Amino acid sequence: MTDDWMPAPPAGYLPSGAALRAVRGGPATRATNRTGKREATVLAKIAVIYYSATGNTHKVAQAFEEGARQAGAETRLRRVPEPAPEAVIASMPAWKAHVDATAGVPVATHDDLTWADGYAFGSPTRYGAVAGPLKSFFDGTGPLWGQGLLANKAATAFTGAANPHGGQETTLLTIYNTMYHWGAVVVAPGYTDRSVYAAGGNPYGVSFTASPDGAVAAEILAAARYMGGRLARCAGALVQGLRGQA
Ligand SMILES: Cc1cc2nc3c(=O)[nH]c(=O)nc-3n(C[C@H](O)[C@H](O)[C@H](O)COP(=O)(O)O)c2cc1C
Repeated sequence: MTDDWMPAPPAGYLPSGAALRAVRGGPATRATNRTGKREATVLAKIAVIYYSATGNTHKVAQAFEEGARQAGAETRLRRVPEPAPEAVIASMPAWKAHVDATAGVPVATHDDLTWADGYAFGSPTRYGAVAGPLKSFFDGTGPLWGQGLLANKAATAFTGAANPHGGQETTLLTIYNTMYHWGAVVVAPGYTDRSVYAAGGNPYGVSFTASPDGAVAAEILAAARYMGGRLARCAGALVQGLRGQA
């Protein structure tokens, strides 16, 4: 546990102007490959950060990452820490299987947030709201927020629930509440592509109804790939535009 995780409500609840100006200058958006050679300009750096207990949200997160990468972005797929005790996880086979299967997925850190130009955050719907583990991750970002390091990033969200009307839209809105406080630019699907309609027509963010067999419909994964690409394009445009103002 480091100080990074301590909430730091700054005086006046306002990040410093200097920090915000630094963000407006924006980081470079060129990727360097492992040989150190410069590759073609990427659209943006996109972090897909999610919580998933039984794997549904994880599958959609993978599709988001794939869509962003196919659109030319440099990407990171990250899970937030699992806070449940091992004994509790072990008592539910689907949960245990997913935790074991995704042990190799890197855990999200503050570096992922400062590195990225755009975020896709995923959470299961829990009582119509964001799941606690992702909210805990958000709650640990006070020090970054206070320095203005989370402002001006593109952000979108995705969720799933057991029922078709089980609270998907309210969950997306609870995620966006944090984005508004960060000063992020929310990138909603709207009705910008046929894949949005095919996935159920949710203009707030990609959402799905969980299937008892754990499968996520192809239409949902297609919408997630589309939104991964849209997020990358919007994040890239934002970085270019803000850099022009620096
Ligand atoms: C504590 C808890 C609360 C939940 N709340 C809701 C809910 O409000 N509405 C709903 O339809 N499903 C609800 N669910 C079901 C999950 O949203 C659903 O199973 C989801 O797809 C799980 O995603 P995951 O496989 O990524 O963990 C809840 C599940 C849990 C464990």
